[in-house]
Amino acid sequence: MTSTAREYFHTIYAASDDPWNFTTSSYEQRKYALTLDSLRRERYRNAFEPGCSIGVLSELLAPRCERLLATDIIPSALARAARRLEKHRNVVVEQRAIPEAWPNETFDLVVLSEVAYYFDAESLGDIVSLVVRSTDPGAHVVGVHWRGDTDYPLTGDGAHEVINAHIKLRQMVHHLEKEFVIDLWERVE
Ligand SMILES: C[S@@+](CC[C@H](N)C(=O)[O-])C[C@H]1O[C@@H](n2cnc3c(N)ncnc32)[C@H](O)[C@@H]1O
Repeated sequence: MTSTAREYFHTIYAASDDPWNFTTSSYEQRKYALTLDSLRRERYRNAFEPGCSIGVLSELLAPRCERLLATDIIPSALARAARRLEKHRNVVVEQRAIPEAWPNETFDLVVLSEVAYYFDAESLGDIVSLVVRSTDPGAHVVGVHWRGDTDYPLTGDGAHEVINAHIKLRQMVHHLEKEFVIDLWERVE
């Protein structure tokens, strides 16, 4: 399996508007706060959050970015994200799948939050190469993932190992808890 079947996400969004309880879970709120805390710059020029779901993290990222591109593959989730983010005129919400519809832009922040472990190591390695190709030196890449057991192709720790292995990414922040891991890497020359 190279990536989690798209049908899986269609099925879970058909059963719930907020399948991971992003809007109500105190665990998610705390994790989001720590994710924002890991950012090493007050403002970013152009940020990218693939796999934005219903846009709860995107809404918290929006005030830190001149522009934020938030994408997902599921139209119903994107419709909710667009409603949530309506007041943030700097956020663009688009239906795009990674890796095939990777945007042709240069970002100074890429946020991979609870999305990297849906790919196997080789596919994620290709995605990380796209991240590196669409960033300049000095850009930041944030990874945030659940560390528990899943039936996804990679564990959270495994996904972070793949990202960490890229020679052009230098780890700047490493926050480890029993449940989740947050890393921030800087894109180097
Ligand atoms: C667990 S949610 C993460 C939401 C958000 N990043 C957060 O942390 O709050 C994962 C999302 O990734 C999306 N997704 C899965 N595969 C994708 C792909 N190939 N391209 C873009 N989005 C994808 C799913 O539809 C789902 O909404």
